Formats: sequence, structure tokens, C-alpha cells
Amino acid sequence: MARTKIVDLLKEEQTGHQVEVKGWVRAFRSNRFIQINDGSCLSSIQAVVDFENFDENLLKRVTTGSAIHAKGKLIPSQGKGQAVEIQVEELIILGDAHPDDVQRTVMQPKKHSLEFLREQAHLRFRTNTFGAVFRIRHGVSFAIHKFFNDRGFYNLHTPIITGSDAEGAGEMFHVTNFDLSNIPTDENGAVDYASDFFGKPVNLTVSGQLEAELGALALGQVYTFGPTFRAENSNTSRHLAEFWMVEPEVAFNDLEDNMNLTEDFLKYICKYILENYREDLNFLNDRDQQDQKSKPEKDRNPLSLIERLEFVAQNDFQRITYTEAIKILQNSKPYKKKKFNYPVEWGTDLQSEHERYLVEKEFQKPVIITDYPASFKAFYMRQNDDGKTVAAMDVLFPGIGEIVGGSQREERLDVLKKKCADFNIPEEEIWWYLDTRKFGTVPHAGFGLGFERMVMFATGMTNIRDVIPFPRTPQNAEF
Ligand code: 4AD
Ligand code: MG
Repeated sequence: MARTKIVDLLKEEQTGHQVEVKGWVRAFRSNRFIQINDGSCLSSIQAVVDFENFDENLLKRVTTGSAIHAKGKLIPSQGKGQAVEIQVEELIILGDAHPDDVQRTVMQPKKHSLEFLREQAHLRFRTNTFGAVFRIRHGVSFAIHKFFNDRGFYNLHTPIITGSDAEGAGEMFHVTNFDLSNIPTDENGAVDYASDFFGKPVNLTVSGQLEAELGALALGQVYTFGPTFRAENSNTSRHLAEFWMVEPEVAFNDLEDNMNLTEDFLKYICKYILENYREDLNFLNDRDQQDQKSKPEKDRNPLSLIERLEFVAQNDFQRITYTEAIKILQNSKPYKKKKFNYPVEWGTDLQSEHERYLVEKEFQKPVIITDYPASFKAFYMRQNDDGKTVAAMDVLFPGIGEIVGGSQREERLDVLKKKCADFNIPEEEIWWYLDTRKFGTVPHAGFGLGFERMVMFATGMTNIRDVIPFPRTPQNAEF
């Protein structure tokens, strides 16, 4: 007989028949009640043993963390909290978990700090919190593919190893197969990349956008969804060195179309999670409530996790230009009271303290800021008629900050070439990108969603390291 997953057993309306479950023991109380979880849902199923009928040595091996196979009759539950339970007739130990080992791990059933759980990222999947987080992470991923597929986008796999620095930030990981203790050099003593694997310097990609543009200019609408790598040394709760990015790119779209697409997209994801991950969401909602209570009152979020998701799904985002944002900030209380650490003046980038003010205090909803000064945005963004700003957009979310960055792209070859010169990008390095502007160039636009930042918003987790299975951050690539 095949095993039934616990998520399905708990939904069964009929009882009295034989069932089999396989899973891991969460708890074994009074030598009688085993809580079994198999990861298919947050809930465990209760399996009841009459200890007189079982070998004592067998029952001793039913410990927290061990894997078991239970066969028996599905019956209406006597206890509270579950509709059905299993009256166990046969019990097989699939894998032991020694209590001494469990003792030193996150599997010991008590409250652990997220930091401690991170040190045991290989085991934290077994906890309720991380089970819920990673099921929802899957849900967000699936919703993204569904959203684009339903709208006729094609998923394009862009390269992970690349010669170009799309964002021009220069924070890239080099890829080589040189023996690092013996790197070949040329006659001038410089690294001889010609003899490296690809015959030139290459890096791990920071974005699939440039390649996605090539796809969009033939397939019409595409999206990438892949790992991206940034060697920025920022040890913050919102940065990873390896993260996943979703980058749609659409031919014939302008900035406004781009904003509309972003807004529909983010609302869709929130709705999808609200509709399909209720049990996990309720659990994380309670967790978030307790978390909020432990904060000073002024830092508490007036909305619960579920309310925050509903709010985004139901309300229009605020749209303002960078120039308007600067004016609002300059008229704000914290600015006048000199509470901001960074300057607020036209031409400087917004810092997270400014973004937080706009989103959390001024508008109390997601904000899209457009038309930033060209000087601190990437070379590919379309120049506006004022000559100073570009058709950029950043989407800022409450509690998260920047969740999406995007723009309309510069489709005019002459302007783009000038931008390359301004940004010191040799044309011969991205000749293939410039080429698209020579053969039927058209307006087009796209954006990048930081996938983990979206998962943070959907789960209420406040550190990005807690929404990716195995985080990579400066000085940390364990597991
Ligand atoms: O704003 P970014 O740098 O934009 C791009 O890379 C464009 N090529 C996107 C496009 O137009 N196709 O990055 C996009 C998003 C950010 O808004 C942020 O959510 C996320 O990626 N992000 C990070 N997430 C985690 N860790 C990091 N180090 C991140 N850097 C950016
Ligand atoms: Mg950005």
C-alpha cells in the first residue's frame, strides 16, 4: 500500500480505512501520542499507539527527529486540534535520531533564535517556521511563472557566466580555471586572460537583463528567473551575495506600461499566496504578531502580515517622480529636525532612511519612484527630454525598501553610444547589445524583482538570510 501524504490525510472526510504514513517524529507524548510531520503541510498528524501492543525497544526508538513508517486505521480524533488520527497497528523505524544528537540541534522542540537556526541551515527545514517559509517560497516562485505564462511571456534562460557588467557597479565575482597559485602573465606582467578557459575575463552575472532585451526584441515578451551574484560587501538584512532575480522585458512598452505591469505582478503574487498558503500564512502571521509585540511601540507595524499582503493586493501604489520625492523629503519633519544621516538634495541617491520615510510615514503604501537623475542609474536607461533624468523606476515596499528596479531602455543607438562613452563601457565589449539598436529598434522596458525580498514580504521574515535555503553573504558560504 502506498503512503498517503499528511496534507491529504488531514482532509479526508471518511474514516475507518487503513492508511500508511511516512514522516519524521516531532514529539512522542505519554508513550502514546506520536506527532508525525512529512513536510507536505505545516500540521502534523497524530498517531496513537497502545504501548502494550508494541515492543518496548521499538518504542524507545520513536524519538524526536527519527523517521517512521506507521500503518493503521484512520479514525476520528478523540483529542482537540485535529479531526482525524491514526490508530497505529504496525510501526517501522526508518531512521533513528539519537536524543543526544537532537539535543544539540534545532530539532530539539523548543524556541530557538533565528541566528542559531541559521548556523544549522541544513536542519532548520524541520522547524515549523522554515517549513512554512520554504513552502511559501515555492508558492511565490510558482505564482511568478504562472503570472507570466498566463500573459504569454516566454521564460528565457540567460547565462550565469558572462563577460559583461550589466549594472556597471563592478561588484562581480570572477570566474576562472587558472591555478591561483600560478597565474599566467603576459610580457607586461598583466594577467594573461587569453590563456584562461574562455580566453577573456568573465564573471558571474549580476543580471540577465541585457540578454533578456535581445530576447524581447524578437519574442516580444520574455522573463528571466535565475541566480544573480553581487560581490558587494554589504552585511545587511536585505543583501545576499547570491540571490534570485526575476526580470521581465517587453517590446513596445514604455515606462507607464512598465509600472502597470509591475503593479499587476506584485499584486498577483500577494493574492496567490493569500489564496493558496493559508495555513502557513496563519502560522507566520502569529509569529509576526509576537515579533511586533516585542518591539518598541513606535517601531510596530499597525498591520498584521496577512493585512499587509491584503493591503498591497487591494490598493494602488503611489507613483511619484524622484524630483517630487526630494521635495517631500525636504519638507519632512525628520529633515527639518536633522534626523536623516544622509543629505537630501537633488542629484544624490535616496538612502534607505529616505525610502522608509516615504513608504512608511508619508504614503503608508508601496511607492514607485520614477525619473531619477541619470548620474547614479545604469547606462541602459532611457534618457528623458530634460537631458538630466532617465526613465527609471524603483518600487519601494513597506518594511523592505527597494523590491523592484527597472526602466524604459535607451533604444536610440546614438544616445546609447554616448551613454557607453560616458560610462566608460567599451563598445567592442557590448557590440552585440548595440547591434539590436541597428535592426528594427523599438521602445521597450523591463524590471528586476529581487525574489528573496518578495519572499520576505510574503512571509514577514525580516532577515533575507531566513528566506533562502542556504544564504551566501560575506564570509559565509557554509553548507
Ligand atoms: O535594481 P537592480 O540592481 O536592477 C537590475 O539589476 C536591473 N538589471 C533589473 C532590470 O531592469 N531588469 O536589482 C533588481 C532588484 C532590486 O530591486 C532588489 O530587489 C534586488 O534585485 N537586489 C538584491 N536582492 C538581494 N541581495 C542583493 N545584493 C540585491 N541587489 C539587488
Ligand atoms: Mg536598484
